[in-house]
Amino acid sequence: MNILITGVAGFIGSCLAREMAKDHKVYGIDNLNNYYSVNLKIQRLKNLKKLKNFYFKKIDINSDKKLNRYLKKKKIDIIYHLAAQAGVRYSFEKPDEYIDNNIRGFFNIIKISKIIGVKKIIYASSSSVYGDSKKFPLNEKQILRQKNIYAVSKMINEQTAEFFSKIINIKFIGIRFFTIYGPWGRPDMLLFKLFKSFEQNKYIEINNKGNHYRDFTYIDDAIVILKKLLRKNYPKHEIFNICSNNPVNISKLVKNFKKKKFLKVKYVKKHKADVFKTHGDNKKIIKSLKVSKFSNFEEKFWHTFDWYKKNKIDRV
Ligand SMILES: NC(=O)c1ccc[n+]([C@@H]2O[C@H](COP(=O)([O-])OP(=O)(O)OC[C@H]3O[C@@H](n4cnc5c(N)ncnc54)[C@H](O)[C@@H]3O)[C@@H](O)[C@H]2O)c1
Repeated sequence: MNILITGVAGFIGSCLAREMAKDHKVYGIDNLNNYYSVNLKIQRLKNLKKLKNFYFKKIDINSDKKLNRYLKKKKIDIIYHLAAQAGVRYSFEKPDEYIDNNIRGFFNIIKISKIIGVKKIIYASSSSVYGDSKKFPLNEKQILRQKNIYAVSKMINEQTAEFFSKIINIKFIGIRFFTIYGPWGRPDMLLFKLFKSFEQNKYIEINNKGNHYRDFTYIDDAIVILKKLLRKNYPKHEIFNICSNNPVNISKLVKNFKKKKFLKVKYVKKHKADVFKTHGDNKKIIKSLKVSKFSNFEEKFWHTFDWYKKNKIDRV
């Protein structure tokens, strides 16, 4: 199959491309924005470019003409649409980025998909769409209460997919990712911030005394699921949580790390963008794909830490 991955220089996109290029022709696009270390993105691409079935083009998903020109003869069967402005906190600083890249960008991908005859779009939504809930684990049918523009942009993506799935001949699968972590991860997320503080002997700021829970989900588990979805067909538009169903308390996580490694912690007030808890229900995806095992957090946390110590990429 011919696959397009948008946001391929990103964390999830690059890991997915590495896996998919084993069996398929993978075209990857990314605008290499500088939201976090561009060097890290370039390193991820450097590894991918060694693969025989991988092709990269630097394109912004909002550049209609370039996108058209690049894709029109590629015979793309399926798109994994992962390009987006990520990060809940940054959405308070630069809301425009979320409107432009996430809402407009997704619409452009749908538009071009229709023109070039793409059959299926698997797109990234987020656990953020749930917002603050009192009912756990969060399941796909639950009411959504977004707390920031990032979450709003993802909710609009879901609604856009729902709408177009009824009027054009493209199938959509939306993925609500829950705090994906692992080697090659994002430097703006908690684990890599923790590792960096330790390494540089600098204070890490922990909001709300760490009184939060996150359903950390290991990257390889997410990739197994994304790969299986390639060949799965659902009627028109389906939404799935990708989560490990194992909420981790942030305060405990920081204290456990501190017990083993010296860490300077500064407790600061709660951030208005943050939800108290994410804890997803993964029954729907387990039932549909017959996936059974999710990685052990403790084990993969230390594995990720070891990877971080050996790879100095994001510190440049
Ligand atoms: N990592 C997580 O825990 C998590 C959780 C929930 C949702 N998501 C979603 O999953 C997707 C992938 O996340 P990630 O962690 O790999 O993020 P990432 O930031 O590492 O990757 C996104 C990539 O998209 C690119 N990009 C952004 N705007 C673009 C544009 N206009 N044109 C082309 N490229 C553009 C960026 O340069 C980046 O390389 C995103 O949509 C994100 O919102 C991720």
